[in-house]
Amino acid sequence: MRSFSNILVTGGAGFIGSNFIRYLFTDAGFSGRVINLDALTYAGNPQNLADIAVQYKDRYVFVHGDIRDAALVQKLFADYAIDAVVHFAAESHVDRSILDPQSFITTNVMGTYTLLEAARQAWKGKYGDDPATLSGATGEGAGTSVLFHHISTDEVYGSLGEEGAFKETTPYDPRSPYSASKASSDFLVKAYGHTYGLPVTISNCSNNYGPYQFPEKLIPLMILNMLEDKPLPVYGDGKNIRDWLYVVDHNAAVWTIMARGRIGETYNIGGENEWENIRLLHRLIEIVSEETGKPVWQLEALVTYVKDRPGHDRRYAIDCSKLQNELGWKQSVSFDEGLRHTVRWYLDNPEWIASVRSGAYRSWIEKNYEHRTL
Ligand code: NAD
Ligand code: DAU
Repeated sequence: MRSFSNILVTGGAGFIGSNFIRYLFTDAGFSGRVINLDALTYAGNPQNLADIAVQYKDRYVFVHGDIRDAALVQKLFADYAIDAVVHFAAESHVDRSILDPQSFITTNVMGTYTLLEAARQAWKGKYGDDPATLSGATGEGAGTSVLFHHISTDEVYGSLGEEGAFKETTPYDPRSPYSASKASSDFLVKAYGHTYGLPVTISNCSNNYGPYQFPEKLIPLMILNMLEDKPLPVYGDGKNIRDWLYVVDHNAAVWTIMARGRIGETYNIGGENEWENIRLLHRLIEIVSEETGKPVWQLEALVTYVKDRPGHDRRYAIDCSKLQNELGWKQSVSFDEGLRHTVRWYLDNPEWIASVRSGAYRSWIEKNYEHRTL
């Protein structure tokens, strides 16, 4: 079982990263310090952790900065004696990557390189530089005092037909600028592990949902549009399939891998919970109707089929038996329970919604998405 004192979380003001920091302080029993490095792009919102920043002020540090800034990243390793990195920071939205790929390449690829290089330099002497000498082959005691955990996505594996699921051994076949940039970052992480012996672990997760998700992604976008009687844009025929996992279950898996995962290994994380988009939307409509009193027929009338996403991957499904069998991870939140909690969270947090929909985000989306109303 590894333990850490000073964890650098990148992208900790975003959706999954902020839920991860909350999880560390409130559920994981972590007693050390968290340094949250986030550039506060349109997707980053420091309000996500306003309560944590007060309650854990001696153990939580927010740094407004960019993972591509090598001097800043090196300084953070030195100033805070970082012994673990959990790397969430990324440009994360597929549609944006299609419209404007550049920041996906610079942040997701160059930013990951910058962090890896800073870790390699800062941790010299703290890990064996010959991978063959690295301990941890059994998962127990992985023996290293430092760890770089990289957060990735199932999208690197490409698109599935009607059968099968992605395994850790599935060849990479990224098909959007987003997934290509994430695949590149995964390969860099693997290369630093293989070549320099840097202690790395990687997780590839399916679609997350839950509180604090930016309302450009399917579930929060649909919830907010229902609340405001706006069209519910379904891409293509609505039959694309995604595998959904509650964000806290993702984060519990990440923490399990950091504590006990084998060095150099990749672990798939998923919900074993496949839904066609249109079927998911019908279920979400029922829940929003129950929670708000808006009639189902009124919400159903908002469903609007729109032009498909270019290169839209048809189906994702994750085989996470390695994580389950080796490390004993299990998800704890059912889809119905998680969806209902998520709907209630958006109903209860109008200030958060107003804050993330203001400014740069709003003007960007209005300029680029003619078929959508937010
Ligand atoms: P998000 O877009 O909500 O948050 C990303 C965060 O990274 C934001 O706070 C943003 O300000 C920050 N960031 C962006 N560029 C930065 C830079 N150059 N320097 C520092 N900070 C920067 O994303 P998310 O949905 O929380 O995803 C987090 C990670 O999880 C990503 O690596 C993503 O690829 C991966 N992932 C997401 C999902 C999902 O369903 N959302 C599933 C699997 C994997
Ligand atoms: O699979 C993991 C990935 O899940 C993560 O790596 C990404 O960061 C995350 O954004 C997510 O990617 P998707 O493209 O699957 O998520 P998104 O919410 O954008 O879309 C989910 C599905 O819903 C997809 O098939 C496209 C469709 N869709 C999406 C939106 C925003 C619609 O039909 N209408 C919409 O308005």
